[in-house]
Amino acid sequence: MLTYRNGLEEMPSYDGVERDYRIKVNANESTMNLPPLVEERVINRLSYVAFNRYPNEEYYSLVEQIARNFSVKENQILLGGGSSEIIEKIFHTFGGNGHKVVYPTPSFSMYKIYAKAAESQAVPFELDKNFDVDVDGFIKTVRESRADLAVICNPNNPTGNTLTVDDIEKIAKSIDCAFLIDEAYVEFYGHSAFKLVAKYPNLIVARTFSKAYGLAGARVGYMIANADVTRMIGKSFMPYHMNTLSLATADIVYQMRDEFTPRIQMTIAERKRISEQLKNIPALEVFPSHTNFILIRHEKAEQLKNYLESIDIGVRYFSPSAQALKNCLRISIGTRAENDEVFNVISNWLKSS
Ligand SMILES: Cc1ncc(COP(=O)(O)O)c(C=O)c1O
Repeated sequence: MLTYRNGLEEMPSYDGVERDYRIKVNANESTMNLPPLVEERVINRLSYVAFNRYPNEEYYSLVEQIARNFSVKENQILLGGGSSEIIEKIFHTFGGNGHKVVYPTPSFSMYKIYAKAAESQAVPFELDKNFDVDVDGFIKTVRESRADLAVICNPNNPTGNTLTVDDIEKIAKSIDCAFLIDEAYVEFYGHSAFKLVAKYPNLIVARTFSKAYGLAGARVGYMIANADVTRMIGKSFMPYHMNTLSLATADIVYQMRDEFTPRIQMTIAERKRISEQLKNIPALEVFPSHTNFILIRHEKAEQLKNYLESIDIGVRYFSPSAQALKNCLRISIGTRAENDEVFNVISNWLKSS
């Protein structure tokens, strides 16, 4: 008989749907591959990778670039296999033994899983009906639950809304446990909390190459925190947990990150354009977004999702157990042509059904 680790059976699986669609706007990826100039440099760089060596130089080269960009010390940066690995290790570092983690809900569904995996007690904090964080309520919950880790996703996935950096500072100064800001979508918002790291030693900022830099396939993320906190989180990682191919790729992408600015601007402009168009559809609720996706609500969301799937368009539908996201669909921003097609299909289907 196989004996599994205690609690594994009850652990929810990540219900991200993975199938290729003709128009794939379900996972907040970049719908475009690397800009041609960046791709050329990446391929050239990969042609002289030292496959026989462990990835030391490549790791520290990227750390050094990131540290320079944020004007922090190199010992304040850690890299991970996507921000997923970083967030998981942060939960591991501050969790265990019934330690408590406060995170917003609805938000990134993995927080619940990471809390469970780290054998911590999850304390979900409910967003209000507009999906905003009641800052005072959040502070109260963190304090009263005596949490060991508090998490804010800014901008929030899957709702798209944000806290101001002032609000984040208010929380940071009012709580004394570790405070993680997950900034997976921050490039589409423009207001990072990273500067607060110098002032608040409990603050950790996690970022990713997967969204604005279109590198979801390479699995690269990073975090910035106080050097002592970074040293402790670093203990949770295995040696050489990143591979040279991804590190060398991310190194070039980071050097050439200005090449991504037009795409980021295009995504923001498209998000605004499509949001405005969607708002004209009767009975469709459109939530304000500062990300590369839009959340909508309609009472026929499930049928609409099924119809979209039947014509090979993948959007994200949330399981009925996520009560606050009932009848919601999340649609990532694609190219202008993809956005037009998705909008036209939604508009026509809702008109005729
Ligand atoms: C809020 C948030 N954080 C973290 C991640 C993890 O991204 P990655 O591991 O690709 O960096 C995602 C992915 O969708 C996300 O939405």
